[in-house]
Amino acid sequence: MDRTDEKSFSCVVNGEYTVLTGADTTPAIVALRAHGLFSVRETCGIGVCGTCTVLLDGEPVSACILPLYALDGRTVQTAEGLEEGGELSDLQQQFIASQAFQCSFCTPGFLMSGQALLDGTDGPLDDEAIEDGLQGHLCRCGCYAAIKEAVRECSAARTCSRAGARG
Ligand code: FES
Ligand code: FES
Repeated sequence: MDRTDEKSFSCVVNGEYTVLTGADTTPAIVALRAHGLFSVRETCGIGVCGTCTVLLDGEPVSACILPLYALDGRTVQTAEGLEEGGELSDLQQQFIASQAFQCSFCTPGFLMSGQALLDGTDGPLDDEAIEDGLQGHLCRCGCYAAIKEAVRECSAARTCSRAGARG
């Protein structure tokens, strides 16, 4: 990249005002990793595997094909932003409980799409909704059943605790 092409883009990343630098067309994954967000991982680099998924204004997107200019003025969440107060999120904890990974390379991407699914509904998620929400993610270790179970269990547990709180 020619230095003269370099620009600054302001966005909120994991709740913090952030300035990322690069050319308009620099892939977002490059700028996010340069910012130390190494959960954003590249496998295919062409938008078909889901490994690099981040949430842009709450929607899952592939950071490997997302141009940096698209982040300007937007809110970005990566797996580093899932934990709260130093505690793993409910979904992260359920991934561990369900043994939903082997090598874990695909895990951050699945977590982000799983979190978007959970954020998009109050009720328990059925198999079809989970299948739809996780389509486009590949796991070379073949952990699909456990990953889906983790999202399903997390949605069910969350609904129980909310119902309990109301009661
Ligand atoms: S690395 Fe981005 S979709 Fe595969
Ligand atoms: S756990 Fe290895 S690629 Fe998914």
